Amino acid sequence: MSPPATRPAWWRDAVIYQVYPRSFADSDGDGVGDISGIRSRLPYLLDLGVDAIWINPWYPSPMADAGYDVADYRDIDPVFGTLSEAEALITDAHGHGLRVLLDIVPNHTSSAHPWFQAALAAGPGSRERRRYLFRPGRGDGPLPPNDWESVFGGPAWTRIVEPDGSPGEWYLHLFDPAQPDLNWDEPEVHAEFEAILRFWFDRGVDGFRIDVANALHKQPELPDLAGRSGHPVDEGVDDHPFWDRDTVHEVYREWRVVADSYADPRMFVAEAWVPTPDRLARYVRPDHLHSAFNFDFLATPWRADLLRLNIDEALAALAAVSAEPTWVLSNHDVVRVVSRLGVPQPNQRRWRDIELDPSSDPDLRLGTQRARAAALLLLGLPGGAYVYQGEELGLWEVLDIPEEALQDPIWERSGHTRRGRDGARVPMPWSSDGPSLGFGPDDGARPWLPQPAGYARLSVSQQDGDPDSMLELYRRALRIRREHPGLGSGPVHWRESPPGVLAFERDAGLLVVVNVEGAAAHLPNHRSVLLASGPLDGSRLPPNSAVWLGT
Ligand code: NOJ
Repeated sequence: MSPPATRPAWWRDAVIYQVYPRSFADSDGDGVGDISGIRSRLPYLLDLGVDAIWINPWYPSPMADAGYDVADYRDIDPVFGTLSEAEALITDAHGHGLRVLLDIVPNHTSSAHPWFQAALAAGPGSRERRRYLFRPGRGDGPLPPNDWESVFGGPAWTRIVEPDGSPGEWYLHLFDPAQPDLNWDEPEVHAEFEAILRFWFDRGVDGFRIDVANALHKQPELPDLAGRSGHPVDEGVDDHPFWDRDTVHEVYREWRVVADSYADPRMFVAEAWVPTPDRLARYVRPDHLHSAFNFDFLATPWRADLLRLNIDEALAALAAVSAEPTWVLSNHDVVRVVSRLGVPQPNQRRWRDIELDPSSDPDLRLGTQRARAAALLLLGLPGGAYVYQGEELGLWEVLDIPEEALQDPIWERSGHTRRGRDGARVPMPWSSDGPSLGFGPDDGARPWLPQPAGYARLSVSQQDGDPDSMLELYRRALRIRREHPGLGSGPVHWRESPPGVLAFERDAGLLVVVNVEGAAAHLPNHRSVLLASGPLDGSRLPPNSAVWLGT
């Protein structure tokens, strides 16, 4: 067991910017963002003040799920560029002092992956089929092997046609049929993923975000759910047949050894939606993973008591295993924070399914005010923080993408009942004019998802230098976070505060006050206001705003 002091330190309180490559910057004008685009925007990220970037999957893929269906883990999809461009990006980023994280997708491959194609050709009982979860159907074949449903909707099983043309076995896919689940009981699967990690670590990659880290192992008998919840965050779900099984942790102990074998040790962050903070803490025990997103924070309604409860529980669970928290307000899978905080907040401890339908009509002014306050809350807490591209611009969820433009497999798989996640993935507005708002060259193809006209006033060029803009708030917050010894890792001491207001002290005299839903609150004694998310009302902090005070 390695004591915390010997762990690599950079990630413990790093601010990591999530680059969704399809939507970040399109250098070649094909309507899809690419590696050259990311390289050209590194100065922007430096200026923003982040420590690292995490890039969503960029591997060769049929793009049935925006790249989370990987056909080759050791190359780059031509839509994004080439392997040598990826290497050049890593070198450039390191030259600027930015670390680079990639996304590893170990739960499933693409159905176009050579392993799956070989499994289809090889027939039942073969070694090739054992790498996945093939089973005969029930009722002598025509019924799926069990009652599990895909996260995207519909059954989690698809029946194949055997090489001789007869109707054959079924394979498991917790997500799209184009994403067959791997069999993590097979040693070959372990060996292959360790080799993939090394492939990228050898190219200087600093770490990985692990996709659906909580799903790799399935109960070997693949039992029916028989009425039990199939949702990963439902409480009371113990010994679930596919979510958060204890054996997944063995995989991460192996991966930790790989990461630690490098002179400059590499790191992991787990995507694991689990029911309780204690279950999350299991992923970040010593000798396991370094960090795991605290999605409870993201899913907490804008209510002071719930936010505090959540923060306390997370800190306690992580302290028990000597791990740092990892905070996040949004990502490419959930409704953008401005819109989420702009609708009436659910009367429950956490959002369960974070979806908004097109008729929800968020109050974007209120949502923006709250998102600004939420940013100072998040960046004022100890540990690491992730910023999803566009969050620093205050981009809202695009709820009115025309149906024919929707790309997320959820739209089709749900029988057109759920629009899916495209509204959070609309390409970045870099300038306030031009046909793609600076996302691509003016004579290029239209962006892969249409941008709303309203994004023009949120563009980088529009916000740059405007002291009241979200972009400048983030820049100032990240600058202060770098310089102030009280921010980043360290203790949190709650201060007494009026109802609806959160106040906590960090080291070196830094006080964070967030008026979530109280009446305008008198600021505690202080020497200076380091940063405020919005205008103060004399010496009072209005609701939906936050300050960092020097005392
Ligand atoms: C989580 C990813 O973030 C999401 O975008 C993807 O659809 C699923 N995992 C399946 O890989």
